[in-house]
Order: sequence, then structure tokens, then C-alpha cells
Amino acid sequence: MSEQEQIKELQEKVKNLQLQLRAQQKLASLGMLVAGIAHEIQNPLNFVINFSKLSGKLLEEMNEILEDNEESLSPEDQEDMDDITANLKDNLKKIEEYGERSIGIIRSILLQSRGKEDEFLPTRVDQLVHEYVWLSFHAMRANDKNFNVSLRESYPENMPQLMVIPQDLCRAVLNVMNNACYTVREKAKELGQEYTPTIDITMTFENETLTLVMADNGMGIAPEIKDKIFHEIITTKPAGQGTGLGMYLTWDIIVNKHKGKILLDSQEGKGSTFTFIIPAKSVK
Ligand SMILES: Nc1ncnc2c1ncn2[C@@H]1O[C@H](COP(=O)(O)OP(=O)(O)OP(=O)(O)O)[C@@H](O)[C@H]1O
Ligand SMILES: [Mg+2]
Repeated sequence: MSEQEQIKELQEKVKNLQLQLRAQQKLASLGMLVAGIAHEIQNPLNFVINFSKLSGKLLEEMNEILEDNEESLSPEDQEDMDDITANLKDNLKKIEEYGERSIGIIRSILLQSRGKEDEFLPTRVDQLVHEYVWLSFHAMRANDKNFNVSLRESYPENMPQLMVIPQDLCRAVLNVMNNACYTVREKAKELGQEYTPTIDITMTFENETLTLVMADNGMGIAPEIKDKIFHEIITTKPAGQGTGLGMYLTWDIIVNKHKGKILLDSQEGKGSTFTFIIPAKSVK
């Protein structure tokens, strides 16, 4: 290689590193923003849950008063009242249930954003993956109301906590999922009704090895870039829609940081399957 070429290659590397740095900084500030929002939402959400519980108690008291005065109501009115109170009870239960679920999501976001960089922590990886799969899906939907995909998820029963870097692993899942949502959406735009966008998520855990398979039936990846996406900053998306960093960073997270492997099987026009194989100690 001539000196000229070497200089050119080095300049290219510097450019790539600068891009990577900028994206990392963006992610870091976004992470702080998300943690801030999660923290602020926690309080009002607690109010929602507590008032719903309180209303449930008031409803019970009201019911008792009604029962004591049964004779003053006509049988039809009595029946109506019973229906209404049963409905109200159900509604309050739902408010409480979804409120608790939201609090759970917020807690796990806060937990992840609190983890130091590169810190291995006991993590419910199944829950983490599920949350980020849905996050990616809903983010895509927020931008495009027509976007829909048949999401199938399968996780092992009684999954133990595993030692992973939750802060990083969630980003790797998000990167793959964002690409999957993007490609099925593109294909749906092209093919319309005759096509059902599908994304399959399958997790297994055996012999202290976590395997996560994420398969889409999107556009697939051209052979000439398939081998490059993990090692070069490369994108086929229009300007402003992709930086080409997603898979590059994902390789760093799974292979360098977690000492795992990434397998990619893709056929143009048919879809792609990304598999993470990660050695991970379970916490007993
Ligand atoms: N599931 C997939 N289906 C089809 N093409 C994919 C898929 N995943 C990755 N690709 C291809 O690999 C390229 C690189 O992906 P990568 O995630 O690294 O960057 P990007 O998605 O273009 O941008 P970014 O993730 O930084 O927003 C994509 O531009 C796309 O061409
Ligand atoms: Mg991407």
C-alpha cells in the first residue's frame, strides 16, 4: 500500500471514530433525558395507583350503605346499581394493574440508566428484551400510525437473572429491532395488503449460554454488504434515517464486551435472522 493510500485509510478511520463518538454522545444525553423523564413520571403514576386503590375502598363502603338500604330501591334499580358497581370495580382494577405495569417499566429503565458503563449486573434478560422489543415497535408506530407487525415472542419459563451489561444489551436489542421494524415497514409499503410483516423473537438459556434469535421477513440484506455491516459504518438508508452505526455498535456490545457471537442469516427479498449467542452466568 502506498503512503498516500495509508494516509487515506487512516483519515477514513478517524472520520469513522468521530462519527461513532458523536453517536455515543447523542446516546448518552438521550439516556439521561429518558432517565429524567422516567423519574418524573414515577410520582404522578403513584398518585394514579393510590387514588385508584382509595376509590376501590370508597366503592366498597358505598356498596355496604346500599345493601343496608336495599328496600328503598326498586329491584331494577338495585340490579342496575349492582352492574355499575361491578363495572367500576373492574375498571379500577385495570387502572391499578396498568399503573403497576407502567411503574415496573419505569423502574427497569431507571435501573438500567443507573448502571455504570460496562457494569455486569444481575438482569432479567427476558423482561429486558421484551421491553425493548415493544419500545422499538411503539417508537416506529408513533411515527407511522399505519405501521403494524405480527410480533411473536417466546421466552424460557422461570428465567433466572443473568450477569450481563443491561445498559448495553438493551441497545443491541434495540438496534436489531429498529432495523427489523424498518425493513418490514419498507416491504409493507411496497407490497401492501398481500404481505404480513412478521418479527419473531426467541430466547433460550441452556448451559449458561443465552441465545436470542430475532427474525424478520423483511427485505433481506444484499450479500455485498452483509459481511460489512458489523465492521464498517455502512448504511443503505436515506440521509437522516440511518447513520450506519447500529450494527457496528451491536458487534462491540455482543462480541467485545459480552464475549459472545453474532450470527446473521439473510436472504434478499425473504428476510433476515440475527442470533446473539452470549455466555452468561446465572445468579442463583
Ligand atoms: N433486518 C434487516 N433487514 C434488512 N437490512 C438490514 C437489516 N439490518 C441491517 N440492515 C442493513 O444494514 C445496514 C446497516 O445497519 P445499521 O443498523 O448498522 O445502520 P442503519 O440502520 O443504516 O443506521 P442506524 O442503525 O445507525 O440508524 C442498514 O442500512 C441496512 O441496509
Ligand atoms: Mg440500524
